[in-house]
Amino acid sequence: MLKGKHIILGITGSIAAYKSAVLCRLLVGAGAEVRVVMTSLAKEFITPLTMATLSQHPILVDFFNPENGEWNSHVKLGEWADLYLIAPATANTMAKMATGVADNLLLTTYLSARCPVAVAPAMDLDMYAHVATQRNMESLRRDGVHIIEPGSGFLASGLQGKGRMAEPADIVKAVEELFSEKKKSLEGKHYLVTAGATIEAIDPVRFISNHSSGKMGYAVAEALAQRGARVTLISGRTALDCPKGVERVDVLSAEDMYNACCERFEESDGAVMCAAVADYTPATVADQKLKKGDGDMSIALKRTHDIAATLGQRKGNRLLVGFAMETENEQSNAEGKLKRKNFDFIVLNSLRREGAGFRGDTNVVTLIDAESREELPLMSKRDVAEHIVDKMEHLLK
Ligand code: C5P
Repeated sequence: MLKGKHIILGITGSIAAYKSAVLCRLLVGAGAEVRVVMTSLAKEFITPLTMATLSQHPILVDFFNPENGEWNSHVKLGEWADLYLIAPATANTMAKMATGVADNLLLTTYLSARCPVAVAPAMDLDMYAHVATQRNMESLRRDGVHIIEPGSGFLASGLQGKGRMAEPADIVKAVEELFSEKKKSLEGKHYLVTAGATIEAIDPVRFISNHSSGKMGYAVAEALAQRGARVTLISGRTALDCPKGVERVDVLSAEDMYNACCERFEESDGAVMCAAVADYTPATVADQKLKKGDGDMSIALKRTHDIAATLGQRKGNRLLVGFAMETENEQSNAEGKLKRKNFDFIVLNSLRREGAGFRGDTNVVTLIDAESREELPLMSKRDVAEHIVDKMEHLLK
């Protein structure tokens, strides 16, 4: 599968760079043509001679050769490549990639590359788990960069945890997958995704809402679209950009979201209900701004439609995935909702767990269906989305 493929192998300054030699060998062995770009720190971890010998080409570090002034064109290199694989990718390099910093050849090549880009992060567990690193990785994902997840185990620091660069053979597998059409596994399917908070007007100025950022729903929409599904994202208020290839329908109130979902559910293959929908809305909306008086005031509220439960009744063979955010009796409440709303599975997130819930870029969830439960560790919302879509695909089979 890699025969004749042009791969730029970027190496940054991490102890895991010693594995890049084996990685290069495996790629060349599989028939790929490999050009190596290194940062200057990477040269301290693995020698240019080793990498030049294994890739059968001189390695590139600087913008030009100081001996003869020959220019190393990152633009040409970027055009030449079918894939830019950065392995190992340090926290520093990923941060620069995420913000477009271009202070070395490896980074200018990234900005010039027209091909798919994959990174295999390598760092200490705390650096990897740090919110800044996770944020940068999330941002790279949104930019379409493929992240080859690091493994867990002994780290060079002596600590144990997640951050070890994936093994060379696993990286080659991930590269092969990128070149294969596997990623389009949901071609021909159409899913609705609800996301964000609804806005329930009290008067022309005030409203009732909640803290949902919409990040989880947007991540699910993006993951589905990347696998080739047609996605209609029915979105309450968020500050997020619509993921690439996704059709967004903006709504405000629970009633609007209900109508938008009901209109489209019939012709869809299912829905993932990530939105934080208001359960109650003001019984009447004042035409004019309500004036304050001396005393207290109360607002009469009426129930909104339960969108998920309505779709659950009309589900037929479609897939329906729900969310539960619980603060107590988590498991039993989630299981109750699974049955009541006729979900195929439910994603339970607990506000009690650090790194889970509103606004953040990470989540801690448990996937629960009628037969099983799968507890996932702390991970980015984008990775949670991949697990959700994996489970949907599994149920489709
Ligand atoms: O009952 P609860 O609000 O906890 O259920 C959460 C699940 O139901 C989520 O998937 C949420 O998107 C969905 N839901 C809905 N319409 C509502 C309330 C919740 O679709 N009115």
